Amino acid sequence: MLAGMNSDKKLSTISFKHKHLLGIDGLSRGDVYSVMEIAETYIKKNREPDKKHAILKGRTLINLFFENSTRTRTSFELAGKRLGADVINMSVSNSSTKKGETLIDTAMTLNAMHPDFIAVRHPESGAVHLLAAKVNCSVINSGDGCHEHPTQALLDALTIYRRKGKLEGLTVAICGDILHSRVARSNMKLLTLLGAKVRIVAPPTLMPPFPESFGVETFYDMKKGLKDCDIIMMLRLQMERMSGNFIPSIREFFHFYGLDEEKLAYAKPDALIMHPGPINRGVEIDTRLADDLNRSVILDQVEMGVAVRQAVLELLGRNIN
Ligand code: CP
Repeated sequence: MLAGMNSDKKLSTISFKHKHLLGIDGLSRGDVYSVMEIAETYIKKNREPDKKHAILKGRTLINLFFENSTRTRTSFELAGKRLGADVINMSVSNSSTKKGETLIDTAMTLNAMHPDFIAVRHPESGAVHLLAAKVNCSVINSGDGCHEHPTQALLDALTIYRRKGKLEGLTVAICGDILHSRVARSNMKLLTLLGAKVRIVAPPTLMPPFPESFGVETFYDMKKGLKDCDIIMMLRLQMERMSGNFIPSIREFFHFYGLDEEKLAYAKPDALIMHPGPINRGVEIDTRLADDLNRSVILDQVEMGVAVRQAVLELLGRNIN
């Protein structure tokens, strides 16, 4: 049982009064602990030879990804299949969007086929909200532009909780390209909701406007930002969202903001290294640190991703008639 849950509640009776998961706003601490509590049961099951359940038997999940993905798309597919749902992976490059069909028309077309869930990734911030307004099924934001990636933040919170036994009071430094990162945005909201002290560390060109609105501390110097922190969350430079020069060079960015042994030494001796992936070795993280199993929990995050997405599908599925 995770701290923060109502201990007398059976997992099968937890209510999650949301039709969609579009972002962290609107989630209560109880909702988040419900997701983590149920995910915990799937972590165990996913390590067994028989990983299958029938909780979503007869249900249909459509993965609609307009941007590349390895972890999120694959884990939603595994999550749906392991819960017994039929899973359709829409290949956007072969779809009628290439003939000019709009996102809304695509969504309404898919909706007419009666899916129960659509997991959507889209390059435009807000596109997933727009789509959710047009369909009857549950929509899960699987990353929209620079806006939000809520299942990533949930799996990150679970990864931290399982390693540290708590979230409240921990100091988490999120470092790198904060401006373009939906992972940072969802994590700033979720980790502060759960009582962590969140710092963001970036060069001025990669800092979002009004960072104080997220209730976080801002740092422009990695060593100061990492001082005595419990968790270091590194981010990828999102080159695909940059037009113009945000950094002088990769080499200079790594020198000042890449995680290496020298900067890591400023964090607590047992600080964990996280990264949502995909990682760029030698750009935001030294390759030895990325592979250091005593410090890096990057592959734990991937494992938690399947279990968290199973939990989200199960909880949203309870609201489907
Ligand atoms: N963390 C994450 O969203 O990875 P993918 O782009 O591979 O899904």
